[in-house]
Amino acid sequence: MQKTTKHQTSVSFLIYFLAIILMSGCVSGQLGKNNSGEYKNGMVVSAHPKASEVGIEILKKGGNAVDAAVAVQFALAVVYPNAGNIGGGGFMVYRSSKGEINALDFREKGPSSASRDMYLDSTGNPIVAKSLYGQLASGVPGSVDGMVEAHKKYGKLSWKEVIQPAIDLAQNGFQITKQQASELNNMHRNFMKFNPEGTAFINLERPWKENDLLVQNELATTLKLIQEKGRAGFYEGAVADSIVLEMQKGKGLITKEDLKNYHSVWRKPITGTYRGYKIITMPPTSSGGVALVQLLQSVEPYPLKKWGHNSDSTVQLIVEAERRVYADRATHLGDPDFYAVPVNELLNPDYNKNRMSTFNWSAATPSSSVLAGNVNGKEHEETTHFSIVDREGNAVSITTTLNGSYGSFVVVKGAGFLMNNEMDDFSVKPGAPNMYGLVGGEANSIAPNKRMLSSMTPSIVEKDNKLFMVVGTPGGSTIITSVFQTIINVIDFEMPMQSAVAAKKFHHQWLPDEVYAEKDALDSLTTEKLKAKGYKIVLRGGIGRVDAILKTKWGTYQGGADPRGDDKAIGY
Ligand code: DON
Repeated sequence: MQKTTKHQTSVSFLIYFLAIILMSGCVSGQLGKNNSGEYKNGMVVSAHPKASEVGIEILKKGGNAVDAAVAVQFALAVVYPNAGNIGGGGFMVYRSSKGEINALDFREKGPSSASRDMYLDSTGNPIVAKSLYGQLASGVPGSVDGMVEAHKKYGKLSWKEVIQPAIDLAQNGFQITKQQASELNNMHRNFMKFNPEGTAFINLERPWKENDLLVQNELATTLKLIQEKGRAGFYEGAVADSIVLEMQKGKGLITKEDLKNYHSVWRKPITGTYRGYKIITMPPTSSGGVALVQLLQSVEPYPLKKWGHNSDSTVQLIVEAERRVYADRATHLGDPDFYAVPVNELLNPDYNKNRMSTFNWSAATPSSSVLAGNVNGKEHEETTHFSIVDREGNAVSITTTLNGSYGSFVVVKGAGFLMNNEMDDFSVKPGAPNMYGLVGGEANSIAPNKRMLSSMTPSIVEKDNKLFMVVGTPGGSTIITSVFQTIINVIDFEMPMQSAVAAKKFHHQWLPDEVYAEKDALDSLTTEKLKAKGYKIVLRGGIGRVDAILKTKWGTYQGGADPRGDDKAIGY
């Protein structure tokens, strides 16, 4: 038998040591500007580097994934005001290291005096701007209650500690990115229109520039009240008074009672399987989870891997699956507390197999034959997603939104935060498209205290009963297909996390009957083949802004931070 020499021992130590260094982040920078390599202890991926830093500091301090998530949610409300919020709502999907799963619905609600036809004119046609801009566009915000509930159930650090970083960022200011400077400049007119008395987002002296300091003193005061009083710091007292006063300026409907009565709801996550992996995702009030599992069931019988990523067969199959699933969404999905959503039927694999049996390889199925309707869609989007894993392996997937970029554009005077324009996610009239071109009917009609339907799809994937992936994205109607394509990019096309996130995406939503594709998503031959079969292909800007984490077979975490934005993966 060979003896191990001292020299051999130190060589193997050196190799082991190098491997650990490589796995723990020295590959930093090799995967693109937004990605930071692989780490062993935990990871935060969010839409803004400052928010990711806040999350990772909380993890390093001994906080768990939920502590970090609460800190990131509040930090995003400061550093990413397009979508990070306290005046909006969202969803959380949670998986503990021991396999417990849970979902929190902190979606906004229609105010108690909301009514079915509130956005229609005297002839019964939608007044589009009314559900999109100004005080009347807002639902009762859910984010603060959601964070209080999540922290109460799973948090480890004190409430005070997890809110403090957001207060510091609001009070001391932070340097805005180039993308943020240009967005604030583009929105200057809207901010002026809805906030004639001024807000921190308006720079009257000159246009915003990269690295300008954005200080938000009023927001800092609001955050301190939330820090001191928990939910009462927002839903009662000075902040609630300011919200109601703000509502009165523009015929908004939210009352003190509405605020006091708002409560988020723990719900049982939707679960499904795909090629042996378990999918854990958001139930209604989001349509996202149901639709994601339907899409996966629809494509599972087909050899995507053999066909290849974004090949003509892969694209055609996915488009046909999306057409059918989005038609179901328009009819069957809504707030489960108000409408009997047929979740079990929709998630029956035989049902989805049967739906796909009407599709024919030789020609596109016209959407009008899947279900009647004919509308025009348009794009304009802003929501945000973040994914977190802590040292123990607990995972949090949160998607949160004001709906459109900067929501209703109304900054609550004296309280310094933006209100959502989530009322537009209701179906304001059967068959009339919302800002994402989505249509709906009875299931998603407006009613007092009802939650508007969402597409947000925060999700977690398990492999062999262990954590495998944490994933989600903004993107309005494209959320569901972006999460779906990111998952198949990893499972079928074996991409690493960053490539799966960055890969070009395409989208179909039943109506309008068009395939949206990012530039370079489809090569010219694929495009020609699809066109010949009757698919209308429309090029558009970025689809999705996915922030995801993958657990590798070596036990390290790989981040996928979307290069379409300033997103950042930070691990430790
Ligand atoms: O809940 C929804 O589905 C929409 N309010 C999400 C909006 C959105 O994703 C905007 N983002 N880019």
